[in-house]
Amino acid sequence: MTKESTYQSLIPQIQSLVSGETDLIANMANIAAALHNTFHFWWTGFYIVKEKPKFEIINHQSSINQELVLGPFQGPVACTRIPYNKGVCGTAWAQNKTLIVPNVHEFPGHIACSSASKSEIVVPIRRNGEVIAVLDIDSADYNTFDAIDRQYLEQIAI
Ligand code: SME
Repeated sequence: MTKESTYQSLIPQIQSLVSGETDLIANMANIAAALHNTFHFWWTGFYIVKEKPKFEIINHQSSINQELVLGPFQGPVACTRIPYNKGVCGTAWAQNKTLIVPNVHEFPGHIACSSASKSEIVVPIRRNGEVIAVLDIDSADYNTFDAIDRQYLEQIAI
């Protein structure tokens, strides 16, 4: 099976999994499990845009009062909080667009939750045009992700 045909059979399964459920966390958990167990990525999960705890805002660490917080995922333990415009995830959030990183070591400011991660794709999830979360997938190989992944993962992330 090609990667494309695998996505083509997986997408309807994911759509039927999430269509009867309105809870965001439950749907993210099932999507992470379905993707991770189909493609055997290194790490598959979500970071959710949330308000910063009050003490961080008072300390003026950033003018942005929100940050990404770890959501449902599959794979090894990961960083829990990512600032706006930092790392691949924070940059995809700030730019409101999918980022494909063939070699994470060449991405300025990449946040290494695991030294095994070598390439990465981050897809924003939007409500009314605003990013509310990102889908983040890491591979233990270089050059794993391409336009096919982007196309199908963007369908999932709607
Ligand atoms: N590498 C990501 C951080 C999240 S972990 O990969 C799970 C980044 O640079 O944003």
